[in-house]
Amino acid sequence: MAMFNLREYLESGRQAVEQALDMHLPQESERPAVLHKAMRYSIFAGGKRIRPILCMAAAQAIGAPAESVMLPAIALEALHTYTLIHDDLPAMDDDELRRGKPTCHIAFGEANAILAGDALLTLAFEWLAEVQAPKPYVPNQLALELAEAAGSRGVIAGQVEDLANEGSEPTRELVDFIHLHKTAALIRAAVRMGAIAAGARSEELNALTIYACNVGLAFQIADDILNVTSTAEKLGKPTGSDQTRKKITYPAVHGLDAARARADQLVEGAVAELAKVRGDKRPLEEIARYIVQRST
Ligand code: IPE
Ligand code: IPE
Ligand code: MG
Ligand code: MG
Repeated sequence: MAMFNLREYLESGRQAVEQALDMHLPQESERPAVLHKAMRYSIFAGGKRIRPILCMAAAQAIGAPAESVMLPAIALEALHTYTLIHDDLPAMDDDELRRGKPTCHIAFGEANAILAGDALLTLAFEWLAEVQAPKPYVPNQLALELAEAAGSRGVIAGQVEDLANEGSEPTRELVDFIHLHKTAALIRAAVRMGAIAAGARSEELNALTIYACNVGLAFQIADDILNVTSTAEKLGKPTGSDQTRKKITYPAVHGLDAARARADQLVEGAVAELAKVRGDKRPLEEIARYIVQRST
């Protein structure tokens, strides 16, 4: 079997995603220029592009080429970037640094940041409207998946409880609800959308869904750990802020060591599910391990 190099895989995935985003986003010169500048500013500030890359890797695991899911992939990144812009607003986490740069509302003002987020959210579904899922899925299955993940039963539910529970007693039930919704829901959608677009059979889709729930929760646990152990220079966003705001996090509920152990355990559970998938699953396996070992 050919060697698999994760670093090269992530790098080429990132480049392909950024090229597609550049092609599909409105130009900065288009009126209203301030809005299109703000959208492009936050999209191209940096970012690992892990959701689009997971979407492409899931398609490959079912046997379809990564490029065949590029529109769903960039829709995921547009939607994710909207959640980051709004998450950083003064009314929410009130942060001034994101992806190594001033946050959208610092650079463009609060109203433009809210509207740039709104526009990216809407654009995600405009792109998805061009894509049909293959049978036996309904033609608009991809938009359905993203809407369910992003809406009031998904990401937004997690964001509401994250904010409402600053200062609450940290419990296992609460942290799992928040993390599964604010973060795992979109990662689950990324993997499912790639698999569905590639025509996954139900057993494969079920296995990949469990993979993605595990990876999604592990991803937010790693984010919590990095907020405690890393620096703003490395991460490109503030650190120590979860403790200052009394956020419900894995380290707050379980302690750092148990949080790390739980993330590792989730990744092993995720990787075990890949046995049920027939295509090239090395990318998904390596990405799962990277997600807990990453330093950014
Ligand atoms: C940050 O997501 C927000 C979380 C859900 C933890 P990422 O860590 O994927 O941020 P970028 O896209 O690389 O900037
Ligand atoms: C990330 O929440 C989840 C969303 C943005 C939907 P956090 O507030 O924990 O993430 P960071 O640390 O600001 O990236
Ligand atoms: Mg937040
Ligand atoms: Mg935040």
